[in-house]
Amino acid sequence: MSKIQQTLSIIKPDAVERNLEDNIKKIFTENNLGIKESKKIQITKDEAAEFYKVHQSKPFYNDLCDYLSSGPIVVMILEGENAVVANRKLMGATNPKDAEENTIRKLYGISIDKNSVHGSDSIENAKKEIDFFFKN
Ligand code: CDP
Ligand code: MG
Repeated sequence: MSKIQQTLSIIKPDAVERNLEDNIKKIFTENNLGIKESKKIQITKDEAAEFYKVHQSKPFYNDLCDYLSSGPIVVMILEGENAVVANRKLMGATNPKDAEENTIRKLYGISIDKNSVHGSDSIENAKKEIDFFFKN
């Protein structure tokens, strides 16, 4: 049964800075994830804090919010079969050191914090995250 879904992807500042936008987008499109929307923006620390609210009790929260707001990012709506899980597979593990060969984080991630991409982790969070960036 076909399960066409949408998910939110972010190319983080470390990857935008290294001009990896096109390389990363190619990985999505070559793996049957269409890019329905895409925009390059910079967010404030307050917006980053709202976006990553789920991590507010974690020791890395403050640095994470500083980081996501430190430079331009590319936010995208990806669409395709099982898009949430498909995107997470293409991304690889949170820590690039643990990521499988040919995943985005293995190819381009620098460290656990500068790991090049964000991807929604569930259908419910995908809806929330898409609304966060694309609802007017
Ligand atoms: O991004 P992902 O869903 O794989 O990981 P997460 O556990 O939801 O954490 C969100 C982000 O916080 C990660 O992508 C890392 O950039 C950052 N993080 C960190 O800086 N240090 C950690 N120990 C864990 C996560
Ligand atoms: Mg996560």
